[in-house]
Amino acid sequence: MSELCSIILAAGRGTRMKSDLPKVLHQVAGRPMIEYVIDITKALGSLTTYVVVGHGADQVKHLLGLSLSYVLQENQLGTADAVKRVLPHLKSLNGDVLILCGDTPLLEQSIVADLVAQHRKTEAAVTVLTARLKDPQGYGRIIRNAKGDFIAIREQKNASPQEQAINEINVGVYCVKAQSLSDAVNAIQPNPLTKEFYLTDAIEWLLAKKMTVDTLITEDETTAFGVNTRVHLAAAESIMRQRIMTAHMLNGVSVIDPQNTYIEHGVSIGQDTTIFPGSYLHGGVQVGAKCKIGPFARLRPGTTVEDGAEIGNFTEVSRSTIGRGVMMKHFSFVGDAVVGSESNIGAGTVTANYDGVHKNKTVIGKKAFIGSDSILVAPVTVGDESVVGAGAVVKQGTHIPPGKKAVGVPARII
Ligand code: UD1
Ligand code: CA
Repeated sequence: MSELCSIILAAGRGTRMKSDLPKVLHQVAGRPMIEYVIDITKALGSLTTYVVVGHGADQVKHLLGLSLSYVLQENQLGTADAVKRVLPHLKSLNGDVLILCGDTPLLEQSIVADLVAQHRKTEAAVTVLTARLKDPQGYGRIIRNAKGDFIAIREQKNASPQEQAINEINVGVYCVKAQSLSDAVNAIQPNPLTKEFYLTDAIEWLLAKKMTVDTLITEDETTAFGVNTRVHLAAAESIMRQRIMTAHMLNGVSVIDPQNTYIEHGVSIGQDTTIFPGSYLHGGVQVGAKCKIGPFARLRPGTTVEDGAEIGNFTEVSRSTIGRGVMMKHFSFVGDAVVGSESNIGAGTVTANYDGVHKNKTVIGKKAFIGSDSILVAPVTVGDESVVGAGAVVKQGTHIPPGKKAVGVPARII
């Protein structure tokens, strides 16, 4: 099988985002949008994924780490110029190059896999992914002749009113033979209107050289979605969130109101757990089976909730493990803590985990009972089956032995 490398375009200023943060680092469902695109190239067995960076290059490299190859595009002269920067690295590639944009977080892996498969089957010089949209505004339009053959991609800025009425658009994903890519990108001239080098013109150039240009049309409106503004960002977030929610529901999780529940990328939830409205589960959180979460619970990164636990209304858990069958049903904050199985965290309990300099640990044993409105000033340990009386303030450094009681302010062990 011929080799596959990928190029992800991520050097653009993202001017329309009006942000100091590079566009591709803006988050969708708790994750920089470019990471969704990177996942696809890795899943499709791309030998090397080249990320073209420019605006905010150091930030992008720092966040994405060492598993990728970065190529600098110092001046953002257009998408074809971005690809040109990678060409020296592709000289010995005997195969195809998959080109994607870093600002299409909703792109589905399956359609890109189909694109690569079709490209290899037809042996076209380039295969372009297109989509039919109800609202094609802002995208490059696919121009076809009367027979329906591909002729060109026309950018919105350069399109006539008739061309703007075309609703088949360029998704910005291409699979192209390495040699053809190099020839085409080196040949094209800047667009007379914008002075930018358009990758889309490279496709037209290949056609003019009698090379085969093939297309794959997707009817999935969302997969093509490119994020250029914060309005697009919010729309992408909403679609991604519903995708995530659907996957959880199909796995046996009840979500009472999917429109008003927030689950980021990379959360695991066990079967027969119910998530009540207004809850927010951050990336990496793990929730076991048969739990009840919310309404209005916030589970922050580093949190594990074991089977059968209930995390009720107006509660926040951060960097903590909540044991099997724990009841923590109202108005509590638990941070940097381990709570043993079947313990009860009374209404209004707070672990005061931050002393202004350090985050300190609270360890609560099994079947412990923390009365309402108690404050545990960490570090604190509460032994198995011990009790903290309502309204107690347990001082920093206290160790409550198993089976004992701590009451009062400051708490005395009795
Ligand atoms: C581009 C396509 C358009 C397509 C749309 C799909 C071109 C000329 N146009 O338009 O046909 O419908 O994507 O979403 O290709 N970038 C660089 N270096 C540059 C310029 C851009 O790396 O010099 C990167 C950007 O960071 C971005 C991607 O290329 O990730 C696309 O650039 P963008 O400016 O968003 O292009 P669109 O106007 O959306
Ligand atoms: Ca774009």
